[in-house]
Amino acid sequence: MKAPNMNQGRGVIERFREFLPPCEMVVSLGEGNTPLVFSPRLSARLGHGCEVFVKNEGVNPTGSFKDRGMTVAVSRAIDRGARALICASTGNTSASAAAYAARAGIPCAVVLPAGKIATGKLVQAIAHGAKIVPIDGNFDDALRIVRELGAEKDFVVVNSINPDRIAGQKTAAFEIVGELGDAPDFHFLPVGNAGNITAYWAGYQEFHQRGKSKNLPAMFGFQAAGAAPIFHNRVVEDPETIASAIRIGNPASWKQARAALDESKGAIDIVTDEEISMAQSWLASNEGIFVEPASAASIAGLFKNGQKLRDGSRVVCTVTGHGLKDPDSILRRIHSLEPVPAKIDKVRRAIGF
Ligand code: F0G
Repeated sequence: MKAPNMNQGRGVIERFREFLPPCEMVVSLGEGNTPLVFSPRLSARLGHGCEVFVKNEGVNPTGSFKDRGMTVAVSRAIDRGARALICASTGNTSASAAAYAARAGIPCAVVLPAGKIATGKLVQAIAHGAKIVPIDGNFDDALRIVRELGAEKDFVVVNSINPDRIAGQKTAAFEIVGELGDAPDFHFLPVGNAGNITAYWAGYQEFHQRGKSKNLPAMFGFQAAGAAPIFHNRVVEDPETIASAIRIGNPASWKQARAALDESKGAIDIVTDEEISMAQSWLASNEGIFVEPASAASIAGLFKNGQKLRDGSRVVCTVTGHGLKDPDSILRRIHSLEPVPAKIDKVRRAIGF
């Protein structure tokens, strides 16, 4: 008997099945098909006839791009009769894995660096009923442990070392080509464990090989200055950044990311925490797009490198996760919100314009 289809008509497996590994049982929350928003103000900042688009992955079902890969990884885990899922995470993978596990009706364990997960992400993992195991260690330690547990067969690992994750995530590149009619000239994105840059490059190459696009973009990846192993070409033992999602010192897809950067004639660069915070505020207050700090690395990277792009370039910046994931990144900037008396004149004066 064919397994029932739990999807409601959206989702990347239904839309891109022919480009994905086979999935019998579709576990979907309607991920993908995210807005590619033209940004007049970023385009104006670059000048020289450049056009900048923001691919807003924060509007996926659990608020990050991870859902694209999770639907494929979890669907195929269920097809193989998996009994439980496990992942290491800086937060978003755990939120996504927990949600898709709940949808599939199987348990999920998440191994996290203690005290380093943004509030919203931890809340998601709790709400979806994941077994949360904080460790005294960083993400790289968590991933090492998860790899070992994954070898024991009780668990299917749903980190991006699982190729089904990468397969699902490449659909973002397909959507961009579909919407722009071709690949952009430049693609900017944040880099942590380096799965996403690997996935985008795979997606762009695949569409190019199949004759669906003429262009191939140069891939530009951005690491936080305190967590920049690929940029420095060495493992960072104690990575540190406010962009907790990309606080990673030894990325799992390092080699694949290096290949994507070299083959696409792109580059890896660093952005400071200050540049990240500034870009996060700028995007929220100038374009109405609220992203978490790690996501703003692509925008900070554009501010840093925008002048180097040739005239008339088309640029896509991926913003990877929603701003509500990490409310503290904004609340820290506000000292106090003093109440005023409940009188119209006092309120008018407090508004100040
Ligand atoms: N942006 C956000 C919001 C992320 O959560 C991540 C990774 C990245 C960018 C970097 O993507 O790892 O494919 O290079 N988050 C992982 C996690 C590590 O556990 O949620 P990458």
